[in-house]
Amino acid sequence: MSKSADLRARKTAAVPNGVGTKGIYVVRAENSELWDVDGRRYIDFAAGIGVLNTGHRHPRIMAAVAEQAERFAHTCFHVGSYESYVHLAERLNALAPGAFAKKTLFLSSGAEALENAVKIARYHTQRSAVIAFSGGFHGRTLMTMALTGKVMPYKRGFGPFPAEVYHAEFPLPYRGVTTAQALADLDRLFHGDVDPQAVAAIVIEPVQGEGGFNVAPFDFLRALRGICDEHGIVLIADEVQSGIARTGKMFAIEHSGVVPDLITVAKGIGGGLPLSGVIGKATIMDSAHTGGLGGTYGGNPLSIAAGHAVLDVIEAEGLCARAARIGAHMRTHLEALAKEVSAIGEVRGLGAMMAFELVKDPKTREPDAALTAAILASAEQRGLVLLSCGTAANVVRLLAPLTIPDAVLEEGLGILSAAVKDAAGLGAAGNGSARAVA
Ligand SMILES: Cc1ncc(COP(=O)(O)O)c(C=O)c1O
Repeated sequence: MSKSADLRARKTAAVPNGVGTKGIYVVRAENSELWDVDGRRYIDFAAGIGVLNTGHRHPRIMAAVAEQAERFAHTCFHVGSYESYVHLAERLNALAPGAFAKKTLFLSSGAEALENAVKIARYHTQRSAVIAFSGGFHGRTLMTMALTGKVMPYKRGFGPFPAEVYHAEFPLPYRGVTTAQALADLDRLFHGDVDPQAVAAIVIEPVQGEGGFNVAPFDFLRALRGICDEHGIVLIADEVQSGIARTGKMFAIEHSGVVPDLITVAKGIGGGLPLSGVIGKATIMDSAHTGGLGGTYGGNPLSIAAGHAVLDVIEAEGLCARAARIGAHMRTHLEALAKEVSAIGEVRGLGAMMAFELVKDPKTREPDAALTAAILASAEQRGLVLLSCGTAANVVRLLAPLTIPDAVLEEGLGILSAAVKDAAGLGAAGNGSARAVA
């Protein structure tokens, strides 16, 4: 039995079924590559689900964490505060869009950031309702499950969920939902289900992650801003997956010119350490009473040290510009592949948050989850780690680290093409089919 097979069996015996895994057991990782317990090498286009924008074990981030660990690893910011927390808040306040005073609160996970953003918006408005969107994903805690607009695997069997959460349609041009239709759906909600004057917040991912890498049309985001202004609703941009240079700007919403009231960040900001935050307008962020926000581990010193190093690396290595270049290259590659493979219905994304959707027939656009799963399996067998997404699990998303060397990116895209052609039954002689073992 291989070491991987042995570990898969032990996992089945010791870890609950609900914790899904790919079955890859990692012993080492370096920038955009992984090595497993059996010595197999993988190119990593998953990046820990969009966490490692700065790559695995970036030397500058590892050094910053090691240096902090030499001094102190935990005090709890509420008990023994430290300058690095305050300074990271200052840096993010300066980076976030909006010509107004901002404040930042640190937490540990993406879901926790969303929970706190909703708490803050409710306190500020003294209202309870929250509007989220179909296909959105915001986490696995009770409130964030309620916000999530994707039943499987996130919501089934886990209810009841907190009340006063409503879902409106997310515009999906490929699926025939225009900006005008999505706005009409919001109007329907306001007339039929919830008074806009009772709504504390509208929560939207500028680019949906789990939902299928759907880019919110900029005119839709602008319209949401107008609706929030009209009714005194707090606009929350969930940038947990789309933020921290991934789309070619520090925050994806900057592409639209829209300034949200609150921004949730996680994943990329910690460079692999658990760190999340809520950045927002000071007048809103300051609403809650002292002691109402925080937590034992929020803004842990090691994670904060990593956060500073992540921002330094993004600046020093020009990772926003690099994300734009990687994204453009991926798009060209995928559009060429789509000309050969009719099952690729749409290539979409923003910056280095690129994806392609698989359909059984380009005319009916019926989702093809089986083909998507086959592409992931073929890629993995060839040494490329990929993730799917989409409410119908028929989208392949590419989340390569922004630090990936050109040669490794090229190698990964070659494997991807071979895997797609192989799974689609078009043959994939040679290109990308050789299994690299190191
Ligand atoms: C947009 C978005 N929000 C929130 C979350 C939840 O983050 P976490 O898994 O760190 O709780 C995710 C995770 O994938 C996400 O993509």
